[in-house]
Amino acid sequence: MGKRKLYLVTGGAGFIGSCFVLRALRQDGATIVNLDKLTYSGNPANLREVENNPDYHFAHGDIGDAAMIGKLLREHQPDAVINFAAESHVDRSIADPTPFVETNVTGTCVLLGTVLEWWRTLEPAKAQDFRFLHVSTDEVFGSLGPNDPAFTESTPYAPNSPYSASKASSDHFARAFYETYGLPVLITNCSNNYGPRQFPEKLIPLVILKALAGQEIPVYGKGENIRDWLHVEDHCDAIARVLEGGRIGQTYNIGGRSERSNLQVVETICELLDGIRPGPKAPRKQLINFVKDRPGHDFRYAINCAKIEKELDWTPKYDFRSGLAETVRWYLDNTDWLAEVQSGEYRNWLKSNYDER
Ligand code: NAD
Ligand code: DAU
Repeated sequence: MGKRKLYLVTGGAGFIGSCFVLRALRQDGATIVNLDKLTYSGNPANLREVENNPDYHFAHGDIGDAAMIGKLLREHQPDAVINFAAESHVDRSIADPTPFVETNVTGTCVLLGTVLEWWRTLEPAKAQDFRFLHVSTDEVFGSLGPNDPAFTESTPYAPNSPYSASKASSDHFARAFYETYGLPVLITNCSNNYGPRQFPEKLIPLVILKALAGQEIPVYGKGENIRDWLHVEDHCDAIARVLEGGRIGQTYNIGGRSERSNLQVVETICELLDGIRPGPKAPRKQLINFVKDRPGHDFRYAINCAKIEKELDWTPKYDFRSGLAETVRWYLDNTDWLAEVQSGEYRNWLKSNYDER
């Protein structure tokens, strides 16, 4: 058996980070140090089941805090840093881009610089094995037309929203730290994730909550925009593969080969809920309300993930409809989690994003 790994994970209290932390503790026998600022989307309840696990350590802090990160690195001597921490919601970036620059651009740059400084002090074997994995998005590639070929790793960057511009910038910094200083960086660009513990500002959990409550379901524009959906567990498996076998300095696209229009996704959720929990508002499709479109709304994302499939033998395990059915059930079964996340802050967001739409 190989040596136990210690990972410094940033943003591990969020949707994807918490899935990765739970998986790494459960499946890989890893030790985890989770640095998280606990913004509105960071939720300690996501990791409640491992709170008392001796292999799990939580540090409340910011990726832009060099002193704190330096201390964590010296204390724990991680085998890898996996950077999930980010402001992640496109609509919030349209309302106010500043926190996106602070965390996604400046924060990532500070994190890279602090890791580099520490990495340079390591003895050669440890330095060679170390990895910095930066988790990014397909949105950096911009928007596709209906018949365009899917994004590959060499598709030029063309971000359209403040969110994707900030993620594109962070990817460039990660790449530059490899090219300039030799830091062993890996980058992943993934499509839309779904699954348990996603903050309900994003399409799928938002629609589940609205449909359950019998409230209008806001669909931007005509609902024709297309996203490629991947179950969060599949994403985390892919990240683990890249960490293990990815070539340093490379980027890997990750996708579900599961393109759907937003309207198809929303209608499927309505059908699933009508089946599991029939109610006076069924068929819930009647709750769909077409509202003012998102400015600069990317029409379509599609990922060509041939590289990770070929090089690292990764392929998604979940099929979209059954993964979505499982996700709907998770939200129905986790009412305490839902009550907790629908705080005042969440209600304020709904008001500011939807009331005038
Ligand atoms: P999320 O919003 O659910 O979680 C983000 C986490 O980062 C939260 O726990 C938050 O508290 C933490 N955080 C924010 N700012 C921080 C800071 N300055 N310092 C430390 N922690 C901070 O986001 P998510 O959906 O889990 O996304 C995780 C990563 O994956 C992001 O980098 C995102 O760009 C990327 N990504 C997301 C998707 C998706 O569909 N959700 C797809 C591809 C890539
Ligand atoms: O592609 C990966 C990206 O996917 C990640 O990098 C982002 O962090 C993540 O938030 C997600 O971005 P999207 O903008 O695609 O996800 P969102 O859930 O916000 O929206 C999905 C689609 O649904 C999009 O076309 C906009 C539409 N939408 C969204 C909301 C919140 C609606 O029609 N109504 C809504 O109320």
